[in-house]
Amino acid sequence: MGIEEQLTGVLARAVTDIDSADSVKEIEAIRVSYLGKKGEITSILKGMKDVSPQQRPVIGKKANEVRDELTAVLTQKKERLEKESLQKQLEAETIDVTLPGRQVKKGQTHVLTQIMEDIEDLFLGMGYQIIEGNEVESDYYNFERVNLPQNHPARDMQDTFYITPDVLLRTHTSPIQARTLENHDFSEGPLKMISPGKVYRRDTDDATHSHQFHQIEGMVIDENITMADLKGTLELLAKKMFGEEREIRLRPSYFPFTEPSVEVDVSCFKCGGEGCNVCKKTGWIEILGAGMTHPNVLEMSGVDSSKYGGFAFGLGPDRIAMLKYGVDDIRHFYLNDQRFLTQFKRKG
Ligand code: DAH
Repeated sequence: MGIEEQLTGVLARAVTDIDSADSVKEIEAIRVSYLGKKGEITSILKGMKDVSPQQRPVIGKKANEVRDELTAVLTQKKERLEKESLQKQLEAETIDVTLPGRQVKKGQTHVLTQIMEDIEDLFLGMGYQIIEGNEVESDYYNFERVNLPQNHPARDMQDTFYITPDVLLRTHTSPIQARTLENHDFSEGPLKMISPGKVYRRDTDDATHSHQFHQIEGMVIDENITMADLKGTLELLAKKMFGEEREIRLRPSYFPFTEPSVEVDVSCFKCGGEGCNVCKKTGWIEILGAGMTHPNVLEMSGVDSSKYGGFAFGLGPDRIAMLKYGVDDIRHFYLNDQRFLTQFKRKG
């Protein structure tokens, strides 16, 4: 068979191949098998050296025509396939812009934060500063500077997470008393502060214990501060937390950093004082500890205790929240279960 016929035959076969190809990849393979370096047409053209010089231009022309034709058919089919696949992809990825968007759930302030913010508002309104303390504290400030020297029996009441023998996770917010006292310049006015924050105890978690919980420390130091000031202040706090009709009573107690020390009860907000399950039939609920700042605490911070004195108090927002909302397990506050937390939506 002459070269011309061979070329015509190859072209016909290639066109059939192209017709039945249904991917760009196949088209590419066909192109290589006919027109590539080792392709059929290329090898036929290698036979040109045996053709007579008169016939060469004719065959050369034919070869060019076949190559051009084949290239055109390949390109056409490739473009059609590409267009089809783009169309398919577009159809598959259609976006319905009329569909409603995904709802973003709005969070709410954690119930303990709400309680702490309410208390902060109250005290800010009375001219107190809010002081942030460190959760990692030294043994010296956590204990010694609030009148709990080494081997003091009251240290045992507060199981402590020690980081080193001298550094610990604070067991209460009271070290902030010493830290603010030693920095306060009394020539600029009285010291009035509250300090909310996290505290830590080496307790086994159960319904009433958590190894991490919250406290709010409060302190007022000036000249001529009396226990009546303490009582008036805490009465306001109790009313703010549990309602305007509440009263408070003070019971003698002991804390190393105050003398005298008191425990403060609020009249029961559920039964109004008649006796019920919340107040254990006593009509009163213990809410915090307080007292008149011990002279040792003042003196160790360089404050003249013959001139200045005042009161301090410490309360637990976790306990307040449990009482206020009838929560029977402190661990609920720390599990971050939305079913629990969303019950405490701040009003307004
Ligand atoms: N620091 C005490 C505690 O963790 C709470 C406390 C009681 C703080 C009486 C005070 C206070 O400032 O006057 O149990």
